[in-house]
Amino acid sequence: MRIAVLGPGALGSLVAVQLHEAGREVVLVDHRPERAARLTREGLLFRPLEGEARRVQVPVRPASEAGPADLVVVTVKAPATAAAARLLPGLLAPGGLILTLQNGLGNLERLAEVAGRERLLAGVSFLGATRPREGEVIHAGRGFTYIGPAPGARVSPEELRAVAAEFRQAGLPCEVRLDIEAMLWEKLLVNVAVNPLTALLRVPNGVLPELPPAWEVALAAAREAQAVASAQGLEVAVDPEARLREVCAATAANLSSMLQDVLAGRETEIAALNGEVAARGARLGVPTPVNALLTRLIQALTLARPYQV
Ligand code: PAF
Repeated sequence: MRIAVLGPGALGSLVAVQLHEAGREVVLVDHRPERAARLTREGLLFRPLEGEARRVQVPVRPASEAGPADLVVVTVKAPATAAAARLLPGLLAPGGLILTLQNGLGNLERLAEVAGRERLLAGVSFLGATRPREGEVIHAGRGFTYIGPAPGARVSPEELRAVAAEFRQAGLPCEVRLDIEAMLWEKLLVNVAVNPLTALLRVPNGVLPELPPAWEVALAAAREAQAVASAQGLEVAVDPEARLREVCAATAANLSSMLQDVLAGRETEIAALNGEVAARGARLGVPTPVNALLTRLIQALTLARPYQV
């Protein structure tokens, strides 16, 4: 299976490096051709969970040179989804599959607008990955990746199993789940809690449970998201506190993706996470004051950057 990983951020780089080291046929797609050429030449510096750091020569290509791929794994940040979707027609082989491993809500809809729903897979990854600088990736936490058909997809069980097998052969635990929409919300519960608070407080994930006032806010955000999911008819059958503790422990050393964005001065995914929960809550009559406030605070943090002392 020829795989293109679209988005050379932390998660995309980690997935591409692991697939490449396992001998899978993978290319990492970078929208900046000069950076793609440099990363291909120099390799990615990979810091695994165990063992020595090493350079891995993953091929990095601009989209125009990366296809055709049987599977495109989309890992770009939510604000870049529409731009990434426009690359799909040139990247995908006929009948190829698209798998999004992105955080947040609204990504499936944006990809489907360009590529249709038939070959669309949704995925949820609890892997901890950090990109301290361009060309370097740290595997910062173990975690399962779940994949399943997006609503409206026409994908056979064999095709789903084949995609999961690619991940597993690369040492990335992966399971097929037919209730992937509920899984997306399960991950969202974690992201609306961990991401804005670690970004505001500038702490690694493992510190959050040690800060009682912040932990209470995190739990409140997760519980609101669970109530919104339930009002939409999706039962997210997890205990938010237990789930958050589990993820914070498994990714203790990890800087959340939102903290990494804030530190790098990039746009954050707050709109696709807490912003979406607050917006859907408002439509469904479910109160979401904590998610609305966290959205505002992260937006303010981004705007405040040039003035910070
Ligand atoms: O967005 C993130 O950083 C990740 O989804 C997670 C699981 C919170 C780990 O840092």
